[in-house]
Amino acid sequence: MSDIAKLQIGDNSYEFPLVKGTENEVAIDIKKLRVVTNGIITIDPGFKNTGSCESAITFLDGEKGILRYRGYPIEELAEKADFLEVSYALIFGNLPTKQELDKFHADIKEHSLVDDDVRKILEAFPKAAHPMGVLASLTSALTAFNPSSVNTASKEDMYHAIVRILAKFPVLVGWTMRKSKGLHLNYGKKSLGYVENILYLMFKQPNEEYVMNPIIKDALDKLLILHGDHEQNCSTSTVRIAGSSHVGLFASLSTGISALWGPLHGGANQAVLEMLEAIQADGGDTKKYMAKAKDKNDPFRLMGFGHRVYKNFDPRAKIIKKAADEVLNDLGVDDPILKIAKGLEQEALNEPYFVERKLYPNVDFYSGIIYRAMGIPTDMFTVMFALGRLPGWIAQWREMRLNKEPIGRPRQIYIGETERHFVELDKR
Ligand code: CMC
Repeated sequence: MSDIAKLQIGDNSYEFPLVKGTENEVAIDIKKLRVVTNGIITIDPGFKNTGSCESAITFLDGEKGILRYRGYPIEELAEKADFLEVSYALIFGNLPTKQELDKFHADIKEHSLVDDDVRKILEAFPKAAHPMGVLASLTSALTAFNPSSVNTASKEDMYHAIVRILAKFPVLVGWTMRKSKGLHLNYGKKSLGYVENILYLMFKQPNEEYVMNPIIKDALDKLLILHGDHEQNCSTSTVRIAGSSHVGLFASLSTGISALWGPLHGGANQAVLEMLEAIQADGGDTKKYMAKAKDKNDPFRLMGFGHRVYKNFDPRAKIIKKAADEVLNDLGVDDPILKIAKGLEQEALNEPYFVERKLYPNVDFYSGIIYRAMGIPTDMFTVMFALGRLPGWIAQWREMRLNKEPIGRPRQIYIGETERHFVELDKR
């Protein structure tokens, strides 16, 4: 293939270089398009055909169902690694040595206290507030308590901001859940592993010892790893674009949390479980809901189905489906919701509407069932997604800053009124 793309507009022809990635993906480099064509731009709502950056963090092939973080296949990481090692690899590029991992964990523990005044902000929220809104606000508020996290010009400054947020975010997650349940807040336990401490922060009761269930710990490790990064999705692009203005790390992450909240993105895991519960309450008639999903006059969508990039299968969904079976089995939970989910999946896989549109179960279709078996409230599911995505957002933000990417500022084609003149109020 030639390494030039030719564009013909009227009588004028232009040439643009092609950019090739290490996995042979090809893009047309149009950086000079507007200048050489005297103002012509591209338009691509939803960025379905637009690469916003070159990135060395995550590779995914939607047709083949491949997902790799820093080159490591997701299947291997989910089976063999723990979440902290994967976080390190995502952020810094390679799996850590034992020494690097120990230092990373020690640095995180060092910063695991959250200023007591943050509790006052939390207390001001109504108990019924959605945890994602609370988490986004508290993450942003952390900047006020850690002003140095804004100055992230050097790698060292970045490192300090990174270990601080990795330390404090699980505390905020635990507090957010405990507040909504009327439970006392705690600060975790330094002697625990990173993921064990998350469970302790969420589930420790004031009047008894917390006994760690290894099945739950392993399941959480796996779920967090599977959510670790997913290249330029909605929330990640939001973090990168907010960070491109050189606002600090915590403020950038807070925008990502808000973007993740929506039901078409991370909020789908909560929406899936609510949908499955609604089908159950309605007598378990999955065919009725299939018909609703296909009906173009009905806004209902089968939550947990379809993906912008995966058009064959979502490799994360395969791993999660197996994990859901194992976890429920190991915990001795017989959840009728799992049966409804499996029934719905089977119908969808044989239904021409879904087959033609290449709609398959995504990562969120089965994750809620595991979270539920772990005792995590439904409105906390998206918060768990955020916890898993945190290292991915950090890695993408760090890459964007180290690459010195310009401020994100898309163009538009204006389709509004042409010039018109002001009319006095009494004459309108
Ligand atoms: N149920 C019914 N129809 C669907 C669904 C669905 N879940 N998803 C897509 N379609 C149809 C859609 O109506 C359209 O039909 P037509 O061509 O006749 O107009 C066609 O499939 C293509 O859909 P699209 O909305 O153009 O596709 P997209 O790439 O813009 O959207 C999506 C991807 C994930 C937003 C969408 O599939 C969806 O809304 N799924 C349900 C929500 C969900 O599970 N989101 C979690 C995504 S994975 C977690 C994450 O990383 O965020």
